[in-house]
Amino acid sequence: MKILITGSNGMVARTAAQVCRELGDEVVALDRARLNIADREAAMSVIDLEKPDAVINCAAFTNVDLAETEEAACYAANADGPENLALACKESGSAFVSISTDYVFGGKKEGFYTEEDTPDPISVYGRSKYEGELRTEAAYPAAIIVRAGWIYGPGGINFLSKIPEMLEEKKPFTAIGDVFGTPTNSYDLALRLRELALSKASGIFHLANIGEGTTYYGFAATACDVIGAKSELVSKIKGADLDRPAPRPVNSRLASVRPGSFDPMPHWLTSLRGYLSPFVS
Ligand SMILES: NC(=O)c1ccc[n+]([C@@H]2O[C@H](COP(=O)([O-])OP(=O)(O)OC[C@H]3O[C@@H](n4cnc5c(N)ncnc54)[C@H](OP(=O)(O)O)[C@@H]3O)[C@@H](O)[C@H]2O)c1
Repeated sequence: MKILITGSNGMVARTAAQVCRELGDEVVALDRARLNIADREAAMSVIDLEKPDAVINCAAFTNVDLAETEEAACYAANADGPENLALACKESGSAFVSISTDYVFGGKKEGFYTEEDTPDPISVYGRSKYEGELRTEAAYPAAIIVRAGWIYGPGGINFLSKIPEMLEEKKPFTAIGDVFGTPTNSYDLALRLRELALSKASGIFHLANIGEGTTYYGFAATACDVIGAKSELVSKIKGADLDRPAPRPVNSRLASVRPGSFDPMPHWLTSLRGYLSPFVS
């Protein structure tokens, strides 16, 4: 398999490239300098030149707060980008997997959001990703759209990814205790992205580690337990205490109801323990 991965400096892209190489694929991993996905001509010509069996789109404008004031740049990457890649993949006959987000949902639902729920995004970032989904589906009905939960992994700069380092520093920190999501290990996600790329599937898939999900505080407290760090290092705050520019869904837990499609993802506690194993003293 020849797999082209976009946004190759990002957290998920790096793990996806690693996983695909480990499994014997030829990987063409392109950062923004080599392929700006917002540039339609560039997308068409790179994919025409490379003729990959599959494209996994990991490129995105992911700064949720900055998106509120940088709407044009956000839509260029998150809406134009996937559409451009979808059109290019359709033209070249490549499979196309594009990552979307749990933030396409507004958070009012109790329980889990499934593929049957209608998005109702509440932030610029969420709206741009939903627009990207709609344009991808319209451009290339065979495309696969993966909505992932809260992703963490090696090289990640987000809160969940940084928790082991923060615990090692032994400096107290706060974590939101009233916002619920489904943690998603980047390695588990990457394996499934590849599996989907090889499959004959199409449409929307929700991918997140299974279990009841948790809050940021619940994730951090569990990490304390696993690592053997002092639980006093983490204290609970409310999401509203942070007064951030972009609203976030208070519940964006994902589950899949796609019939018999694939094996379930590992439980989030199992995957978190694996991620933390290098930090356990
Ligand atoms: N992290 C999460 O918790 C989470 C949750 C749900 C879904 N997702 C989705 O998962 C995917 C991967 O996220 P991630 O956490 O790996 O993000 P990330 O670490 O921020 O990586 C995104 C990469 O995309 C690149 N990029 C931005 N605009 C681009 C463009 N126009 N053309 C080409 N590359 C571009 C960025 O490059 P620069 O560094 O140059 O900007 C960056 O290297 C995204 O679709 C994101 O929306 C993430």
